[in-house]
Amino acid sequence: MGLLEGKKALVFGVLNEYSIGWHISQSLHQQGCQLAFSHLPGEKIERRVVKAVEPFKPAFLAPCDVSKDEDVARTFETAKEKFGAFDFLIHSLAFAPAEALHNPFLETSRTAWNTALDVSAYSLVALTRAALPLMNANGSIITMTYLGAEKYIPMYNVMAVAKAALECSVRYLAAELGRNEKHVRVNAISAGAIKTMAARGIGDIDKMMTHYNEKAPLPWDSDDAATHVGKTALYLCSDLSSGVTGETIYVDGGYNIVGW
Ligand SMILES: NC(=O)c1ccc[n+]([C@@H]2O[C@H](COP(=O)([O-])OP(=O)(O)OC[C@H]3O[C@@H](n4cnc5c(N)ncnc54)[C@H](O)[C@@H]3O)[C@@H](O)[C@H]2O)c1
Repeated sequence: MGLLEGKKALVFGVLNEYSIGWHISQSLHQQGCQLAFSHLPGEKIERRVVKAVEPFKPAFLAPCDVSKDEDVARTFETAKEKFGAFDFLIHSLAFAPAEALHNPFLETSRTAWNTALDVSAYSLVALTRAALPLMNANGSIITMTYLGAEKYIPMYNVMAVAKAALECSVRYLAAELGRNEKHVRVNAISAGAIKTMAARGIGDIDKMMTHYNEKAPLPWDSDDAATHVGKTALYLCSDLSSGVTGETIYVDGGYNIVGW
């Protein structure tokens, strides 16, 4: 019998089989969790996502641009109708306009700043608020963050500011939701570099993978890396992490502890 038998998770942010959200889904699915997915609207994206999540036999797929309130409301209406109450919300998405990642940070426009923080950080608050009425007691919410929130990483720019806001939001949401009668937990996983579509958008991902492998205490290659993240997500959804909330947990082969 799996650790998550009888549990249900709604996963935001799977684009393809390389997505971190996909590896989290695989890990939850292997332990008996039923899954449903939400993806960015668009025919091409939908085709990709349908194919990627097919092995998980999803309860439903719902298109949702997380920067649109009406999309968020519609997605949770669908969840209510097709899923009923559920246990886990996986937030594995982020976006910043390309020019804000490639130009100097000093040149960040107000529009790029607002977009990056809206999609990558505020969406966790919006999705949590919409999910909570449908969540079972002792549920768990997980989001994905990166070391750029606290250390300078070349080209991470406005996304670093968004991740800092996201990690802070995790603490505020955890404090409020922990006191709520449902005791839903909220945590962030800070992953090391993983070759995904989003990582390619930032650039130098191959160089980063080599650097991680040289510097991190543990071996770090892209396939295993995503599996490590999936395992920590399983821990954070399962009862094994019943006393853990508001944390940013590093799954980076120990990269963040090394100074030189
Ligand atoms: N890949 C890495 O090295 C790495 C490291 C640490 C943290 N992360 C974080 O992991 C999360 C998942 O990214 P990934 O690396 O799996 O890349 P990915 O490209 O596979 O996933 C990013 C997802 O965000 C979705 N998205 C973007 N804008 C959206 C919007 N407006 N509404 C709904 N969905 C939207 C995309 O459709 C995609 O599914 C992100 O938060 C990312 O910052 C990635």
